[in-house]
Amino acid sequence: MNVIFLGPPGAGKGTIAQRLQDRMGLLQISTGDLLRGAVSQGTELGKKAKGYMDAGELVPDDLVIDMLKERISQPDCRKGVILDGFPRTIPQAEALDASDISVDAVVRFNVSDETVIRRLSGRRISKSTGKIYNVNPEGMPKPPADLAEGDLIQRDDDKPEAIKNRLDVYERQTAPLIDYYEKKGMLTTIDAEQPMERIIEATTAAIEKSS
Ligand code: AP5
Repeated sequence: MNVIFLGPPGAGKGTIAQRLQDRMGLLQISTGDLLRGAVSQGTELGKKAKGYMDAGELVPDDLVIDMLKERISQPDCRKGVILDGFPRTIPQAEALDASDISVDAVVRFNVSDETVIRRLSGRRISKSTGKIYNVNPEGMPKPPADLAEGDLIQRDDDKPEAIKNRLDVYERQTAPLIDYYEKKGMLTTIDAEQPMERIIEATTAAIEKSS
C-alpha cells in the first residue's frame, strides 16, 4: 500500500510519517530528505537543487520525478511507502499517475500559517538519527536530554524569509493537488493543529479505511 502525505511546510508530515513507519510498516520516502542528502553529498542533483531549496522554491519537476522513481524502484519500498512531500505539483501527480506506482490514499494535513511559522522556527533535527524535534514551549516532541552536543541542527530553509516563500509556493503550486485528489475521491483531510496522538489515530484510521 502506498500513501501520499500532503500539506504545507511544518504541517507535521515528516513527524507523522516517522511515527507511522514503525506502527504500520510503511517506509517514509521524503523527497526533501533525499534532496538534502544529495546536497550534502555534493552530487550533480544536489548542486542543481541547492539554490532552489535555500530560497524555499520547488526543485524542477523532471529532477524530482526521476529521483523519486529511482528511489521507489528499490526493494525496501516493496511493502509500501509514505510519500512525504511528493507530489508537490500537478505535473508531478500526473507523472505518478502515468507510472506503475499505485496510490491507495492521500492524507492532507491542515494547519494555519501562524502554526507553520511557530513550528518551523522551533524545529530542530538530530544530525545522527534524522529525528525531528521542537524546542518551542508548546512544541513536541522535545529533544532528549542525552543528545551529543552539536547533534541538533536547524534547517537552512527554516529562516523567516524562506518560510514565507515556502508558504506562498505551497499555495500556488501544491494546494491545487487538494482539488485534484478530492475529485478522484482519494483525499482525507486531518486537522493537524491537534495533539500528535490524536493526529496519529486519525491518520491510521484513514489509511486502514483505504486498504
Ligand atoms: P521538505 O523537506 O519536504 O519540506 P516541507 O514540505 O516544506 O515540509 P517540512 O519538512 O518543512 O514540514 P513537515 O510537514 O514535515 O513538518 P515536521 O514534521 O518537520 O522540502 C524541502 C524543500 O525540498 C522544498 O522547499 C523544495 O525546495 C524541495 N522539495 C522537496 N520535495 C519536493 C518536490 N516533490 N518537488 C520539488 N521540490 C521539492 O514538523 C514541523 C515541526 O513541528 C517539528 O519541529 C515538529 O516536531 C513540530 N510538530 C509537528 N506536528 C506537531 C503537533 N501536532 N504539535 C506540536 N508540534 C508539532
